[in-house]
Amino acid sequence: MTRHTPHFSRQLHVGCPNIGNREQLLARIEDILDRRWLTNHGPYVQAFEERLCSYLGVKHCIAVCNATVGLEIAVRGLGLGGEVIVPSFTFPATAHALAWQGITPMFCDVDPETHNIDPEQVERLISPRTTGILGVHVWGNACDTESLADIAARKGLRLLYDAAHALGCGHGGQMIGNFGDAEVFSFHATKFVNSGEGGAIVTNDDELADTFRRLRSFGIENGDVVDVGVNGKMNELSGAMGLTSLESCAAFIDRNRSNYLAYQSALAGVPGLRLFTPRTTVHNFQYVVVEVDHRQAGLSRDHLVDLLHAENVLAKKYFSPGCHRMEPYQRLSGVASRSLPHTENLCGRLLQLPTGSAIDADDVRQIGDLLRGMTAKMRRAA
Ligand SMILES: Cc1ncc(COP(=O)(O)O)c(C=O)c1O
Repeated sequence: MTRHTPHFSRQLHVGCPNIGNREQLLARIEDILDRRWLTNHGPYVQAFEERLCSYLGVKHCIAVCNATVGLEIAVRGLGLGGEVIVPSFTFPATAHALAWQGITPMFCDVDPETHNIDPEQVERLISPRTTGILGVHVWGNACDTESLADIAARKGLRLLYDAAHALGCGHGGQMIGNFGDAEVFSFHATKFVNSGEGGAIVTNDDELADTFRRLRSFGIENGDVVDVGVNGKMNELSGAMGLTSLESCAAFIDRNRSNYLAYQSALAGVPGLRLFTPRTTVHNFQYVVVEVDHRQAGLSRDHLVDLLHAENVLAKKYFSPGCHRMEPYQRLSGVASRSLPHTENLCGRLLQLPTGSAIDADDVRQIGDLLRGMTAKMRRAA
């Protein structure tokens, strides 16, 4: 049997880390080592927080060791308990941040066009035990922030956003980071601006900011332990990396945008493949999301992903399955029988393609040709 030679000799990853100015980063690391100030709110973490505040136009930024811990701190600082309404169509960290605090995630369906939490469904899930809504700006596309704010105000609920995908995205004349009571960003290595591991909670509320800062640092305030806190601090190496990465943010977005436009041309007219169009006017384009219509394309999403992997195009299946189908949540009362048709549909049909600074327009053109060829072959065989 002859061995298959992949089309690409290198692996093309989704979320291959962007590296900013390497010399600048190395100089900053030298400086950190010279100062021997490795963590505990050092100058690079402070500079990163300040730069994020001015970039987002937000009052407070609390850098943390990752977005999952950031969400946990925000959930606790907002005083959430009982039940919180959250989309099932998200990365498990969103639901875990609630369950880890003993809160029941009430899984909500999404809008099939925006992939974001559906406010009408949110309203239906509100019970006397509901304390908040945790929305996710999926792919950096803003949630329906107006409707969610209206529901939260009318029902006396807290409103938190998981903005892990949404740095650099704007909505209604404001940057994401300014909506709800607080928002949480991720700077994980796979995010287009990254600090290796890292995250940030942002808010325009002074009191909440003090609470989040206290909870991030063992519940210590002015030297006294006044709360049960955690160690959620970002270290200086991550601070320097985040700062350096943020300085290249515009260049990263430019590359993502040009790759996105190249995908638009490369996939034009391929039956059964629909490129997701962001609704948010200011966008980071960090996810290239394709919806596969099995019947029109001639093959399923899973089959297509297997074929792409064989060519070293390491497409992803975010988010599959939805959180409500994951082992720890299926056991929760009422979850197994809850109908989330749009979530189920998206979980079975979406794939993500590589982009970022490791990919260029020529790679995209070749990926497009591969997809065109794969789908045409399957349709001919049918
Ligand atoms: C929507 C969403 N929320 C939360 C997280 C968790 O972020 P972190 O890895 O920084 O904890 C991720 C990570 O990819 C994510 O995609």
